Amino acid sequence: MEFSVKSGSPEKQRSACIVVGVFEPRRLSGTAEQLDEISEGYISNLLRKGDLEGKSGQMLLLHHVPNILSERVLLVGCGKERELDERQYRQIITKTINTLNETGSMEAVCFLSELHVKGRDIYWKVRQAVEAAQDGLYSFDSLKTRKAEPRRPLRKIVFNVPTRRELPIGERAVSHALAIAEGVTTCKNVANMPPNICNPAYLAEQAKILESDYENITTTIVGEKEMEELGMGSYLAVGRGSVNESLMSIIKYDGAGDDSKPLVLVGKGLTFDSGGISLKPGAGMDEMKYDMGGAAGVLGAMHSLAELNLPINVIGVLAGCENMPSSNAYRPGDILTTMSGQTVEVLNTDAEGRLVLCDALTYVERFEPDAVIDVATLTGACVVALGAHASALLSSHNPLAHELLNASEQSGDRAWRMPLWDDYQDQLESPFADFTNLGGKEAGTITAACFLSKFTKKYNWAHLDIAGTAWRGGKNKGATGRPVSMLTQFLLNRSGQEQGE
Ligand code: BES
Ligand code: MN
Ligand code: ZN
Repeated sequence: MEFSVKSGSPEKQRSACIVVGVFEPRRLSGTAEQLDEISEGYISNLLRKGDLEGKSGQMLLLHHVPNILSERVLLVGCGKERELDERQYRQIITKTINTLNETGSMEAVCFLSELHVKGRDIYWKVRQAVEAAQDGLYSFDSLKTRKAEPRRPLRKIVFNVPTRRELPIGERAVSHALAIAEGVTTCKNVANMPPNICNPAYLAEQAKILESDYENITTTIVGEKEMEELGMGSYLAVGRGSVNESLMSIIKYDGAGDDSKPLVLVGKGLTFDSGGISLKPGAGMDEMKYDMGGAAGVLGAMHSLAELNLPINVIGVLAGCENMPSSNAYRPGDILTTMSGQTVEVLNTDAEGRLVLCDALTYVERFEPDAVIDVATLTGACVVALGAHASALLSSHNPLAHELLNASEQSGDRAWRMPLWDDYQDQLESPFADFTNLGGKEAGTITAACFLSKFTKKYNWAHLDIAGTAWRGGKNKGATGRPVSMLTQFLLNRSGQEQGE
């Protein structure tokens, strides 16, 4: 799909379709007003007859509106003008794109980017519109032999900005959004891929593809033999029950062109989490293929970063592994020696993510990172606490936490902070080892982060639990592409390129 911006008046457009807003109750937006005038009240007449109330998401497609050069006019209900918020704006865009895709218009000029969304500028509105459009158009059908193709799909959409002065800012918003959408798509594609195809080797292959696609990326793969030499006893234990070798991919993006300290992103890459010997219940177990959602998010963010060509150094780590039961698998009761030297008593082999991550987090010390952010579908408790709307953010470093919360607000890919107080550490006490891998049933998301915090003392660190946000359940189940846009926003901010200048 092609996106662009322009500045013009609606009645002068010669397009397959122009899209304008109508507010509730039956109130024309500025651009709809212009069309109404030129068409001698055609639109207001329809509204008076009750064809469209203007409720959020309502659609009315008109053909051959008098004196209008475009073939069609799509009126889009935007709800009460004063109540239009960010979420509604995104929903309206998504619905509009879906409608356009079905009406036979192959191109459209959309004036919804001119709607007033409280506290948001044109950069935000265009960027969100492009991101929402790309998100809505995504489908994972590479494994279907019969694909559903729309007859005349939408090919090109132009977003209008109020004046010519805003064109550069709008263009920048489009290019940022497209780079982010590419990363989001990469993330969705790998997270949706079934676990018989997407195993640790597949994840490593994706990391290698980034290397071949971008000049300033180098990818190296750490296999089990090297992990052995490094003493990564915890990571290795989790993968031991699987015939698929554990593989950790290190994706180095060199954008600063100097040796400034890198930001490091570490993603949990459990390509399947059966629970191991502490086997999960059968219902919904298929969804544990997305337990590599953290790695997918990191891969996606690295892709967006490379597309944006940002002038910073970033290292992405995909901690690939499969958690399976077998006679060779690790067991409850085992005591593991982590790469840090600390010992862990395994109380539940289903609390495996932290065991993989802890060694990956020790491994990245060698990069002398400026900051480390790990991303993981770590706890079911997080889904209980925050549902599908916010990722959990836990951090021992307030400035980093605030940077991430800011990025999440800006991108609309939301996160909510939880405490990481020492009071919770007691829940990990073990009579036999330095600590256990299980914090009990209270505050599961926090105790999991407490576990990780024992391995991240040497740098500034934040943890994102995306168990609730990376995946959409139900009828339309699938990967959401989160938190690629939040992470990329964080990287944009770090590069001083957050705005449209
Ligand atoms: N991958 C799961 C967490 C998860 C659950 C992600 C549901 C997405 C949806 C993780 O490895 C796990 O099994 N966690 C356990 C931890 C428990 C044994 C302490 C959990 O949350 O039940
Ligand atoms: Mn598990
Ligand atoms: Zn898991």
